[in-house]
Amino acid sequence: MTFDEARALFPVLARYAYLNAGSVGPIARPTIAAMERELHRELEEGRGGAERFEAVVELRRRVREALARVLGVDGECVAVTSSTTESCRLVVAGLDLGADDEVVTTDVEHFGLTGPLAASGARVRVAEVRDRQADEAYAAILREIGPRTRLVALSHVAWTTGHELPVGELEQELTVPLLVDGAQSVGAIPVDATPYDFYTVSGQKWLCGPDSTGALYVREPESLRVAAPSYLSQETYEPDGSFSPKPGAARFDPGWTGGAVLEGVLAALEVAPAWRYERASQMAARCRELLAERADVVTEPGHATLVTWRAEGDTKQLVQAAHEQGVVIRELPRLGWLRASCGWWTNEEDLERLVAAVA
Ligand SMILES: Cc1ncc(COP(=O)(O)O)c(C=O)c1O
Repeated sequence: MTFDEARALFPVLARYAYLNAGSVGPIARPTIAAMERELHRELEEGRGGAERFEAVVELRRRVREALARVLGVDGECVAVTSSTTESCRLVVAGLDLGADDEVVTTDVEHFGLTGPLAASGARVRVAEVRDRQADEAYAAILREIGPRTRLVALSHVAWTTGHELPVGELEQELTVPLLVDGAQSVGAIPVDATPYDFYTVSGQKWLCGPDSTGALYVREPESLRVAAPSYLSQETYEPDGSFSPKPGAARFDPGWTGGAVLEGVLAALEVAPAWRYERASQMAARCRELLAERADVVTEPGHATLVTWRAEGDTKQLVQAAHEQGVVIRELPRLGWLRASCGWWTNEEDLERLVAAVA
C-alpha cells in the first residue's frame, strides 16, 4: 500500500490537517465499514442466541491476539479492556495497596494513571521531570524510590512534554513492579512490552480503533489479584460468587464488548502499514523542526510522535482559531502549551497548514 492509498482511507484527512491522534486517532473507511456490517447483522438477525455469543467470544479472542502482536507479547498475557484508564485501575486495585505503601510516578502523567494511584490509598510520590531535560528523568524517578515503594507507574511517552520516559532503564533496575502507561506509545512507536510487569493500550488513539477500546498486558497473570471480576473472568463460579479464574490475563477482562466494536478494532489494526513507525517518526521530526523556527518548543528532538510548544496567548482560543482554519490540535490544560500529534498518515501539507495556523 502506497502512502497516498493509505492516507485516502481516512476521509477526515481530506478536510482537516488532523493532528490530534494523541487524543483520538482518525478513523479509516474499512474500520467503519466493518462496524456497519456487524451492526446490520445485529439489526437483521438479532443479538441473542448461543451461536451469536460464541461468534463474539471468538472475535474477542482474535482481538486479544491482534493486540498482543502489536505489543510483541503472548495473547495469553493480554486482557481486552476499554481504555488505558481501566487497565491502570485493574492493576492498581489488584495490588491491594494500603496506607503504609508508596507508589512512585512523575509529574507528567495523565489522570487516567494518577487517578487510580490516588484512589489506591497508598502514598503517591511524584518525581519532578516536567521542567527538566529528558535525560534527567531517570535519576529524578530513582530518587523517589524507597523501601516502601510497591509500584512504579509512569508513561512510556508523556502526553504533556512528548518525551519518552526511561521505562526500559527502570525495568532493568527495579525490584518492584513497573506499570507502563502505553496510551501515547502503542501504535505510535515500536513497542516490545515483554519485559514489563504491566503495559496498557488505548485503542482509540494511535491504533485508530473505535472509542472505548484498549488492552492490558500482564506478564504474570496468576500473580495479580482479580480485583474487579466480570462474567468473563471466571471459568466456574459458586452461588456466593467465589470463582476459579480463567487461565491467563483473560481473567482481567472487565466486561462485554459488542461485536461491532471488536470488528472495528480488527479492521483498524489491519489498516496500519508496515512502514508506520518510520513515517510517523519522520513527520514528528519535521513538525518539530518547522515549529522550532517559530515557537518555543518543549519536546526535545528524537522523541516520539507528539510535539508540544509554549503558546503565547489563550490556548483555548488558539486551538479554536486553528480549528477554524482546518487544523486540529489540542491544548494542555493549565500549562499554556499546545500539542500536535503526527501519525504515519501525516503529510507535509498538514504541517504547512499547522505552521500557517499557529504562526
Ligand atoms: C498518557 C495517557 N494516559 C492515559 C490516557 C487516558 O487514556 P484512555 O482514554 O484510553 O483511558 C491518556 C489520554 O489522553 C494519556 O495521554
